[in-house]
Amino acid sequence: MTRTVDGEHLVGQPIDRIDGPAKTTGGARFSAEHAYPGLTHAALVPATVSRGRITAIDTAAAAAVPGVITVLTHGNAPKLNPPKRPTPANLSTLVSGTQVNYLNTDEVHWDGQPVAVVVAETSHAAREAAALVHVSYERLPAVVDFAAEEPNAVAQKGNPVMPGSAKKGDADAALAVAPVTVDARYTTPQHHHNALEPHATTAVWQGDELTVHDSTQSITWLRKHLALRFGVPEAKVRVLAPFVGGGFGGKGFAWPGTIIAVLAARATGRPVRLLLTREDVHRAVGARTPSAQRVALGADTGGRLTALVHTSVTRTSRVGGQPEQVTAPAQHLYDATNIRTAQSQTTLDWMPNTSMRAPGDAIGSFALESAIDELAGELGIDPVELRMRNEPERNPIDGKRFSHRMLREAYALGARRFGWENRSPEPRSTRDGRWLVGMGVATAYHPAMQFTANVTVRLAADGTVTVRCGFQEMGMGNATVQAQIAADALGVPFEAVRVEYGDSALPASVMAGGSMQTSTVAGSVLAACGKLTRRLSTLARRTGMQGRTPTEILTAARVPFIDAAVGSDTRLGALAGQARMLAKVVRDQRTWAKAACGAHFCEVRVDADTGEVRVSRWTAAFDVGRVINRKTAFSQLRGGIVMGIGMALFEEALVDRRTGRIMNPSLSGYHVPVHADVPPIDIACLDEPDPTMPLGILGVGEVGITGVAAAIANAIHHATGSRIRDLPITPDKLV
Ligand code: MOS
Repeated sequence: MTRTVDGEHLVGQPIDRIDGPAKTTGGARFSAEHAYPGLTHAALVPATVSRGRITAIDTAAAAAVPGVITVLTHGNAPKLNPPKRPTPANLSTLVSGTQVNYLNTDEVHWDGQPVAVVVAETSHAAREAAALVHVSYERLPAVVDFAAEEPNAVAQKGNPVMPGSAKKGDADAALAVAPVTVDARYTTPQHHHNALEPHATTAVWQGDELTVHDSTQSITWLRKHLALRFGVPEAKVRVLAPFVGGGFGGKGFAWPGTIIAVLAARATGRPVRLLLTREDVHRAVGARTPSAQRVALGADTGGRLTALVHTSVTRTSRVGGQPEQVTAPAQHLYDATNIRTAQSQTTLDWMPNTSMRAPGDAIGSFALESAIDELAGELGIDPVELRMRNEPERNPIDGKRFSHRMLREAYALGARRFGWENRSPEPRSTRDGRWLVGMGVATAYHPAMQFTANVTVRLAADGTVTVRCGFQEMGMGNATVQAQIAADALGVPFEAVRVEYGDSALPASVMAGGSMQTSTVAGSVLAACGKLTRRLSTLARRTGMQGRTPTEILTAARVPFIDAAVGSDTRLGALAGQARMLAKVVRDQRTWAKAACGAHFCEVRVDADTGEVRVSRWTAAFDVGRVINRKTAFSQLRGGIVMGIGMALFEEALVDRRTGRIMNPSLSGYHVPVHADVPPIDIACLDEPDPTMPLGILGVGEVGITGVAAAIANAIHHATGSRIRDLPITPDKLV
């Protein structure tokens, strides 16, 4: 543990995570690790057709397995309120990943939709029995093939915060007359969530009071959603998630496991634990949509962009899903004279798509940043230099001011640390034995947002500080950084601060998503600490204790503690609070173009005979505003890069185009990077605060993954001369 040095700021220091020891010693209990008297275990039964109607479910064999308590189907499950259709004015209903009323309907909407659940005394009995449930279907025609449906895509509606369509000038006309052009198609596959901790729920009913331990990124919204679905007041529902083993967007919404666990607990009157298997996660938790994209660039011979066109097709589902903001980076990165972006989507009989780390930006930046590299090749200009020649002074689409943008500085810093000037411009010009060596570069970019969170802070006469806020800690270090922020704001040691989080009984916060949790909570923590400081000076004046420590002042004033509360006066769950939150975000987005950005530099080595790709070196330099904790922030950025390596080289759902069934629903067939696939990753941050955000924080959760796949594809092109526009870049595409 880094000790506090008297008089030194804690903000910025690489302090160890306060939740670290509990996790490394086994003291941390995750959602599937809570023991209750009479605890039961549940296992899901997935549908095996993509669209249809259940005509019969034979549960006899399952029910006969020793230890089985019940098998719940749409025939005998308790009634459940259907999820509401999401509207912009009622964000909370968005916590439902799908529109399906699980086990309350005979309709099947995707291959993998849970159609029954077995509850048993042991997890083994539950799983054994689940495999014995026999479901008969009337099959209905299903549309499941993304590639076949791509030509039928229709314009996406987008969302109010990030419109997918944008237009400046006439990009198509400019493209037609540009002396140098690139016009290419890029494709990315479906990606699945594989957090270290699979989705899990332990649900306990006591009368009409519900306690749920759930691996969620959004305890506040999940509580509201469960109250709505199960017809009980919000006050009767408590959601606990002090430890979450990674989320990445896959735990942002309520997926079937959570709802069915609560339903099963209600049906049996016993506590229920439902831990999804990896296969369950693949089949019953939304994935990142596949995409097909076109990027067309036109430039003059000096490398000034005259035309930028970026269009995308993604998929959503008949029972939910969301528009993927694929073309967002093209609206912010380059000062092209003419720009056109457009997004369209197809609607399939498929599990709804969902957020996955940097939704839109992660896959959109692959296409855009690959195309820029291709253009650099056409022009014979260094790809860093080409980017610098097109770096905008204002937001290219609408002329909005950037609240912060130090991409030039990030490139300069990264290039120096990486040794970019040693790169020979010619593709396939460097060889080391059997390895072809290449270097690639790409821009990282992710919008920055701040919502609102309710926070209380207590300063006690014994010198301790308690911060209370229902935020989520998924391993990124939020509890630690909020303690650093509060300690600095109140002038107390780090060790004096206790942070309470991960419990819906605490003041309501936002979901951990959109890289906005740290800035959002920090804004409220700072405001609360400001209130306390003012009260403390009043007390100091009154008692003649000016300039003394909080303990001395409170002791002299005979006050055991002082409290400050900050936040919306309605609960976040209430409509008014949400409308205000949304209004603030929209207003902020109208005023500023605000984002974290950075520059990825990587070296790859490609086996000339087998096409095996090794990522051998990485440097990334970021402008993420102020860095609160150099250790946790750098780990977030590094984690994003590791996930990006997976996206570039390994990750791909293999879907049977006839049936819509996922063929590789586990880590044995769906590959993610392991340690041997990841080189040491050098991270540098400019650490310049953004003037419009609390403490100048721009967010670090998602920017790291953006641009990574392009940097690798560009390095592979430099190494081999082969341009691969279809992810993942597997050896077969290189030989
Ligand atoms: Mo994130 S994809 O906003 O959890």
